[in-house]
Amino acid sequence: VRPKVVICRHLGPAMPLLEDRKDIEVVLWPEDRSCERSWLLEQIKGAAGVLVFLSDRVNEELLEAAGPNLRVVSTMSVGYEHIDLPLMAQRKIRVGYTPDVLTEAVADICVMLALMAGRNDGAAYSLVKNGDWAKPKYAWSPFTFCGPQLSVTPSSPTRTVGFLGFGRIAQATLARLIPFGITHCLYTGSPSSRPDTARDAALQATHKLKALERVEADRLARESDILFVLTPGGAETYHLVDAAFLRKMKPMSVLVNTSRGSVVDSDALATALREKWIWGAGLDVVEGEPLISEDHPLVKEPQCVIVPHIGSATFQTRLDMATRAIKNLYGGLFGEEMPAELGKQ
Ligand code: GLV
Ligand code: GLV
Repeated sequence: VRPKVVICRHLGPAMPLLEDRKDIEVVLWPEDRSCERSWLLEQIKGAAGVLVFLSDRVNEELLEAAGPNLRVVSTMSVGYEHIDLPLMAQRKIRVGYTPDVLTEAVADICVMLALMAGRNDGAAYSLVKNGDWAKPKYAWSPFTFCGPQLSVTPSSPTRTVGFLGFGRIAQATLARLIPFGITHCLYTGSPSSRPDTARDAALQATHKLKALERVEADRLARESDILFVLTPGGAETYHLVDAAFLRKMKPMSVLVNTSRGSVVDSDALATALREKWIWGAGLDVVEGEPLISEDHPLVKEPQCVIVPHIGSATFQTRLDMATRAIKNLYGGLFGEEMPAELGKQ
């Protein structure tokens, strides 16, 4: 019998890669929205593989529903907060994900959010969209809509960028910021990772930085002018950015989160913005998404720019991610190499 695979969402232009295979049985969620849990729990019975997305929790419940045939879970994401990895290892279920192919697209959006949050783009853009530009109090004036500047100037010649987590996306973001004149880079590594002094010396030389240092969270908070949150999410990084962390940040600093909402305490961030502990925030991810509503304190906060988890949303990158997710699925189904397997690096 052909192995059954459940696909939790239509994969657009990558669909032929699935449909052209005659050696598998494909069960596809038919609607253009996240699949319903009850549908998934029903369809996954007896399946050998499943292709999931961020909102599909891969846990004990799902494995119970699937039964013993399940041998591969492929997620179309670089993040894996939704997957219980220790459980997968215990049950010997292989897990594929999609790193690398989205690095550049997400780094692009990191820079976009840093600029938007620093330069009041949320408030400025809504003003125009609301038709209020012509109101006398909003017409051009010397210091209206001013914000901190990302690039250096002769009168303000140093800038420190900070990264909470220093993986591929962080390094690609750093590279993009060099032409802005960034002079110092600080980052925190995960507690389990060893400092890589050779890599850091090479990065510092390549980018001609005055300093590139791995530091504790405390110094990162105190010294960063722009701080990017780029940790994996999950229990280890839960609320790393909390009220105590935000209190230490510079009043003119900008926080950007493009990783997982759970890393930043939303209530604390709303307070930090309201009470001007920091200047602004640019978020592609928010705790509790996509359920945050128009009266959420962060949505109401004028110095907070929020986009709905679109970091990797370019045609090219999403097609690359879908293709990689499908190849991972096949690798796991047929006992072959997967292009990107978690726990295998
Ligand atoms: C998006 O958040 C991803 O993990 O790919
Ligand atoms: C994600 O791919 C990262 O390593 O930052």
